[in-house]
Amino acid sequence: MGIVADDLSPAAITSGLATHFIGQRIIYYSRIPSTMEVAKKEALQGAPEGTVVITDEQTAGKGRMRRVWLSPKGCIALSVILYPNIAHLSSLIMVASLAVVHTIAAVTGLWSRIKWPNDVLINGKKVCGILIESGVRDSSIDYAVVGIGINANLKTAHFAEVSLPATSLSDELGRNVSRLELVRRLLVEIERLYLSAQSGEAVYQEWRDNLETLGRRIHARSGNTVYEGIAESVAKDGSLMLRGSDGSLTKLTAGDVTLRE
Ligand code: BTN
Repeated sequence: MGIVADDLSPAAITSGLATHFIGQRIIYYSRIPSTMEVAKKEALQGAPEGTVVITDEQTAGKGRMRRVWLSPKGCIALSVILYPNIAHLSSLIMVASLAVVHTIAAVTGLWSRIKWPNDVLINGKKVCGILIESGVRDSSIDYAVVGIGINANLKTAHFAEVSLPATSLSDELGRNVSRLELVRRLLVEIERLYLSAQSGEAVYQEWRDNLETLGRRIHARSGNTVYEGIAESVAKDGSLMLRGSDGSLTKLTAGDVTLRE
């Protein structure tokens, strides 16, 4: 595979970056357990909004539902610190997943879709996972940390532990991509969508239009309960409305979804 610009140093990322606050401060590590833990600590110490924690390699990457997230060298693993109003907390899922879809399209030309609530898939295979953790106190937000992991330059076949079906940008393209270009574009997209989410509902509509899940028969697990039915619609708060075979409608606010044929 060819050599591409791959330096994720703070200077390389911030130089001429077209954002006002997202990514204007970068905390970089060559290797850490998880960017989430560092970002949460920074947030509690009052890091400026938009601070990004990024690493070349995570040794204890965290996925949703307490799963392990593999991010060896070649992947993108970063967390963005935000201080949203509580009313906008649910839109962060939409902002993050749409920002990834736009970034992948702009930098690689690949077409990706969102699997509710916020996995990004290419040809039905997962290329990116998103984890949002927030600190809420007395019904106000202390902080929100948006963690994004993208399988950029990774041969997924070499990683037996990767939960299948998974893919990477390099697997799809047959060549490596510039992680630097991806990260810089991602930060610009996150800022644009984050600001837009605060001023209207365009982000919700776009997120809904990019969901692969709607209209499909799905199997959903939420806590210990399993649901089956047709994914009928999504509400503005991001929850999924599932129509069961008995006609019942269930609102899922979080969960793990498997798409059925
Ligand atoms: C999932 O699909 O289960 C979510 C995966 C989230 C992974 C990212 S990588 C950057 C950040 N640091 C972590 O430890 N997890 C998130």
